[in-house]
Amino acid sequence: MVKTTDELALMRQSGTLLAAVFEMLDTQELAGRSTLQINDLVERFITVDLAARPASKGQYGFKYVLNCSINQVVCHGVPSEDDIIADGDIINLDITLEKNGFIADSSKTYIVGTASPAARRLVRVTQEAMWKGIGAVRPGARLGDIGFAIERHAKKHGYAVVRDYAGHGIGREMHEAPTVLHFGRAGTGMVLREGMTFTIEPMLNQGTRKVSTEEDGWTVVTDDGKLSAQFEHTVAVTATGVEVLTLRRDETAGGPKRFP
Ligand code: CO
Ligand code: CO
Repeated sequence: MVKTTDELALMRQSGTLLAAVFEMLDTQELAGRSTLQINDLVERFITVDLAARPASKGQYGFKYVLNCSINQVVCHGVPSEDDIIADGDIINLDITLEKNGFIADSSKTYIVGTASPAARRLVRVTQEAMWKGIGAVRPGARLGDIGFAIERHAKKHGYAVVRDYAGHGIGREMHEAPTVLHFGRAGTGMVLREGMTFTIEPMLNQGTRKVSTEEDGWTVVTDDGKLSAQFEHTVAVTATGVEVLTLRRDETAGGPKRFP
């Protein structure tokens, strides 16, 4: 669970490469393209441009390099040539990659064109909630502090936190201990130690926090059909606080330079 300095250097390298994937996506027009086209674009970029391995492909029998979750889809949406991204959608792209044996995992919800103010607000608050969770990370803090900070911010804005999925330790394996819940009580749970690496990836819903998996066995949707958003970073506990290994250029260590 605790990484050595050398292992952290490799994790940082993987994280920087994954940030570059999102920086590439930031320049793309998403509207009018299928989610499969986005998948193929990302696969080419990871394998050809970055000489890395898309770690999601083949994991648990998944055939694609990313999950794409549009509007009421909470997570684990599957790329398809039939799903065309439309103006006004919000779409989470969740991507992993492995380089030199270490995996990074990050996701971002994109606002496509002219989404409604309500949709934009959900996306902004979800990103803020992730940063509240990241802000609770330091040696000596507890896992419950992260979930508490996230849930408090969500509730303050009238949103529900999905409880069925959690952040996770990460390293040579995509999913390692510990499980990082996005709700909880401050001062409870495992004590964080320098060198731990894990993801923080809250999903916030406009309505009920209840979710269901569709018949394809992957796609998770809100039970009431209302919107859901998610953001994810891979972080490391440092001697004094936290390092965001998948930090993008449009963000600073304390959060984005501007929220969407
Ligand atoms: Co992810
Ligand atoms: Co993850």
